[in-house]
Amino acid sequence: DGFPATRLFSQGFSYTYDDVIMLPGYISFPADAVDLSTRLSRRVPLSIPCVASPMDTVSESAMAVAMASLGGVAIIHNNTTPAVQSILVRAAKSRALPFVSNTPFYSPHDPVVNFGEHEYAIVTESGTATSALLGVVAASDWSGLSDKTNTPVSEYMRKSPKSTSSTFNFNQVAAFLENEGLDFAPLVSEDGEIVDLVTTKDVERIRSYPKLGNPSVGSDGKFTVGASIGTREEDKERLKCLVKEGINAVVVDSSQGNSTYQIDLIKYIKLNYPEIDAIGGNVVTMAQAQNLIKAGVDGLRVGMGSGSICTTQEVCAVGRGQATAVYKVASYAKDHDVPIIADGGISNSGHIVKALALGASSVMMGSFLAGSHEAPGTYEYKDGRRVKKYRGMGSLEAMSKGSDARYLGDTLKLKVAQGVVGAVADKGSVLRFVPYTMQAVKQGFQDLGATSISSAHQLLRSEELRLEVRTGAAQVEGGIHGLVSYEKKFF
Ligand code: XMP
Repeated sequence: DGFPATRLFSQGFSYTYDDVIMLPGYISFPADAVDLSTRLSRRVPLSIPCVASPMDTVSESAMAVAMASLGGVAIIHNNTTPAVQSILVRAAKSRALPFVSNTPFYSPHDPVVNFGEHEYAIVTESGTATSALLGVVAASDWSGLSDKTNTPVSEYMRKSPKSTSSTFNFNQVAAFLENEGLDFAPLVSEDGEIVDLVTTKDVERIRSYPKLGNPSVGSDGKFTVGASIGTREEDKERLKCLVKEGINAVVVDSSQGNSTYQIDLIKYIKLNYPEIDAIGGNVVTMAQAQNLIKAGVDGLRVGMGSGSICTTQEVCAVGRGQATAVYKVASYAKDHDVPIIADGGISNSGHIVKALALGASSVMMGSFLAGSHEAPGTYEYKDGRRVKKYRGMGSLEAMSKGSDARYLGDTLKLKVAQGVVGAVADKGSVLRFVPYTMQAVKQGFQDLGATSISSAHQLLRSEELRLEVRTGAAQVEGGIHGLVSYEKKFF
């Protein structure tokens, strides 16, 4: 009944996730028994198969700590200077909490001009995180001032607040606030740097989300954080800075990874930084994968033109349907112990189940995460909907900040966009919707009869996993149809 993947994917068609459907297997265990732990790359373990894409509207410090807290990982983008990217990595590596508050800093002589959405501000000797902590100002203290513009914060700040360690995890910080009867506490590192400020409201917010599982933590005891680099000569200097900040994996970011530039860089990374996992890509064919595996990659990013903001297939006529690409590359890479990251085209939990069942070890997501609270940028309103900006790294707007290297564009000549700028709907916190999504993935695995990602791969290889291509009508039938109106709500 149905076709094994070997047969389905060797008939000359390029299939996307939506084109294929998997036939159910036998259920002999509860969905909660499904173990989604996996690897990002050879030596980087994850407890959920979720990776935030190195895009400047997706992965900065807040996404990195949230994803690592959930057991996934974010790859901090390189569409900025090496110095700023290093700060983003450091901010993620120096925290043990699932969020970043971005509390502003002031020096004692400054007046507060505007609190914005913040409830507190931190006062230090020079107004920076690395100088001595003097006090904390509450927005409520400030709002009652008669002359806001001329009153320096030193006159009404709460002096010498009790602080706690930035190495404390969520439960430890929550217990500290409770035991001390505090509304807030600055988090201070061993070297005296003020890393953040936590409030009881933050604690309540985190407690309203599903319980956190095993976080992704490296051998340094800190959150697992990845970072991307380009393939230019100067990216070697960037890499040096990122390694100093303690990244656990580096992603060499090219839209077509099978190039001499990338192969040389992978060899360079393996030679000079053998302790760091090097992830190459993007690839969609076995031949591309073969070259990068020969060069020594520890992980492969698969996908070309399948991303929601991508126009590569239209502009360059090159790429592959994502289901076919993942299956083909994974079936080659499995013999070399190179985990596959299925990159792009994920818009629901079913796509994640398909990617993993077709041989991927994790999925990399852009649009799926870009509407979250943790993605960079602020919410805007568009046609009455709360949205966040999401843009392709090959869009003209992103390329003007340097990401053109990803597309091997020659900055001296003509720039052609391979991506667009758009917006995605507000989805709330990843700390809420990613756990729900993982529960849905577990239910999909249960339907297939797979207790883990490796057991799903086993079903694929033993040809017990059976698939079919869905006709256009079958795809319509498989979606919501025939209703006059409905509310699309999954949890
Ligand atoms: P999703 O579907 O998750 O895709 O939004 C994210 C992935 O898309 C790739 N990417 C691009 N591809 N032009 C492209 O052709 C672009 O401008 C672009 N920006 C990102 C990238 O692999 C990302 O992880």
